[in-house]
Amino acid sequence: MRRKSVLFLALLVSLTIAASAALADVKLPDPKKDGGDGIFSLLEKRASGSRGAFPTGKISPEELSSILWAASGQNRGGKGWTVPFAGGKPPYVKIYVATPEGAFLYDWKGHSLTEVTDKNVLPEITQDDFVKQAACVLILVSDTGDMGRMSNLNAGNSLAYIATGAMTQNAYLAADALGISGRYMVSLNADAVKRELKLNDTDSPLCIMPLGKN
Ligand SMILES: Cc1cc2nc3c(=O)[nH]c(=O)nc-3n(C[C@H](O)[C@H](O)[C@H](O)COP(=O)(O)O)c2cc1C
Repeated sequence: MRRKSVLFLALLVSLTIAASAALADVKLPDPKKDGGDGIFSLLEKRASGSRGAFPTGKISPEELSSILWAASGQNRGGKGWTVPFAGGKPPYVKIYVATPEGAFLYDWKGHSLTEVTDKNVLPEITQDDFVKQAACVLILVSDTGDMGRMSNLNAGNSLAYIATGAMTQNAYLAADALGISGRYMVSLNADAVKRELKLNDTDSPLCIMPLGKN
């Protein structure tokens, strides 16, 4: 794998580019960690983007970085995460980012993206036209490898579902703070997600969250 610059990420996320044969790791820019509206103002505004008029404006690398960090990035100088995970375990729900230019796995350790495919998987992973047209879609998947190591705490996927609630709520609030719309959705084509993202047989796609800007 080769490293791509932040500038190239901007191209990946913002523009339609010719498909590239080589998969790539993408270092994200630093997330926003201060400023913006206060938490209570954000809670007063929080809402899901409308299914009928979901915005299709592109998300910048800086915005994507901040939303991913809010969803499961490291905080407290690397001692914890922005959402609570059972037993203080590292995140056991993975976030994939699907764009028309390809799909990526968020690596919270390096705050980077690892390219999984350069294909536009959006038409396959959803039945909803507004999701197929979205600038960017987060796909949350239970990480069975990590769940297995905490089997004493795990009741099926319930801990993973609880985590997706916290992760997506943080993503909603961070997105709202940046003027971006998001929508938590359980409607997804699980078989297509597993196939296109090359998941393990036991990994479970849990929800998706299209993102877009007016
Ligand atoms: C567990 C859960 C599952 C959801 N699944 C879908 C879905 O499959 N499709 C969809 O369009 N919206 C879905 N939503 C979004 C809700 O319909 C939306 O949150 C609700 O209409 C309230 O709107 P609000 O978020 O603006 O308050 C889901 C929300 C939750 C919490």
